[in-house]
Amino acid sequence: MTDKATLILDGTEYEFPVVEGTEGEVGIQGTSLRGDSGAIFLDPGYGSTGSCTSEITFINGEEGVLRYRGYPIEELAEEASFEEVIHLLLEGHLPNRSELSALRDRLARHAHLSEDTIEVLQALPPQAHPMSILQTVVSSLGTIYNDDDEETAMYRLLGKMKALGAAIYRRRIGEPYLTSDPDLSYAGDFAHLAFGSPTGGSEVSEVVETALNQLLILHADHEQNCSASTSRMVGSARSDVYASVSAAVGALSGPLHGGANQKVIEMLHEIHESDKDVDTFIEKAKDKSDDFRLMGFGHRVYKNFDPRAKILKNSANDLLDELGQDDPYLEIARQLEQTALNEEYFTKRRLYPNVDFYSGTVYYALDIPTDMFTVMFALGRLPGWIAQRKEMLDEEQRIHRPRQVYVGENERHVEPIEQRD
Ligand code: ACO
Repeated sequence: MTDKATLILDGTEYEFPVVEGTEGEVGIQGTSLRGDSGAIFLDPGYGSTGSCTSEITFINGEEGVLRYRGYPIEELAEEASFEEVIHLLLEGHLPNRSELSALRDRLARHAHLSEDTIEVLQALPPQAHPMSILQTVVSSLGTIYNDDDEETAMYRLLGKMKALGAAIYRRRIGEPYLTSDPDLSYAGDFAHLAFGSPTGGSEVSEVVETALNQLLILHADHEQNCSASTSRMVGSARSDVYASVSAAVGALSGPLHGGANQKVIEMLHEIHESDKDVDTFIEKAKDKSDDFRLMGFGHRVYKNFDPRAKILKNSANDLLDELGQDDPYLEIARQLEQTALNEEYFTKRRLYPNVDFYSGTVYYALDIPTDMFTVMFALGRLPGWIAQRKEMLDEEQRIHRPRQVYVGENERHVEPIEQRD
């Protein structure tokens, strides 16, 4: 690969260094463009714009590859604990025994919600969407722990997030909050805090714990997606960790991002309840005059398959077998996938199931209410948001401040109101 790229603008040549990543990805380092030429690259939606170099996550969307710090997602999902993945994302390597035990102690120290936090939670409207509640309470932690240094805030939030997610769920179902059990894994403790009985000790089903552990790992990072970029963007202004993460939660809540997992199960429910078949909904998704999109399908980066969806499709099967459940939604999801993948509309646009397509069926099998699905996603994604922010701060990146091309009115002057149309 050449190490320079040349741009000719208005007859003048500008040269830019070419950066090549460890997996052969190529970027043209265009930072000097505006200073040298006065022009900018215009790329709404950032489809061809890299905001950083990163050592955290590698995705090859053409081949369906996802690796955290070089480890294939398939291996991590099978062999690691979520705590190991937290360490991997934040520190760059899988922990040895003593590092893992230190991390678990650290997370356990922060795994309770203070009275102040409970009060904030209780003050919010019970019918509010759990993602709005999560965003507000995460943000409020910045008012309570406003003296935290960066590292304390990171681990405090990692420790508290599962207690918070579980408390949001228990408030919703009208059950009292439980206390964290430091002897349980991150996934096991979440299951205990969310589903445990106040009198029943810490009995956590292994099947549920394994399924949750895998879900958390599969969601842990996904390089420069909308919410991770938000976390970096807010952090670039040197705002605190709570501000970065609450903004990232807000970004994740959107239906084109993490909110899609809720929309998928609502769509499967709609299909199940209707008297129309799967083909009718595929036709609706293809029809440009209809707003309906096949939720959980398509991805900005994956143009072949999303490896997380592949893993979850199998896990959903295994989980339902182990729980002895019959889930009508999984069958509809399979039919939708099969039908869509035989349709030119989807193959031509390279639209495949994404992580959200099957995660909903797993959450559903675990009895998690639909509007809590995106909170589960946020719980998994937290180490990614924090690792992305940490990497940006460690590199002392400048404040993120995109440019624009102004296409509005040229200068004009204020007319007295009676002269306006
Ligand atoms: N159903 C029907 N058509 C679709 C779908 C879909 N789910 N997704 C994309 N298309 C079509 C678009 O209409 C467009 O068609 P056109 O070229 O004829 O105009 C083409 O495919 C390209 O789609 P874009 O929206 O331009 O692709 P983009 O990369 O901007 O969006 C996105 C990706 C947001 C994921 C999109 O595929 C989508 O809306 N999917 C449904 C929502 C979803 O599942 N989101 C979760 C993403 S994964 C995550 O955040 C964890």
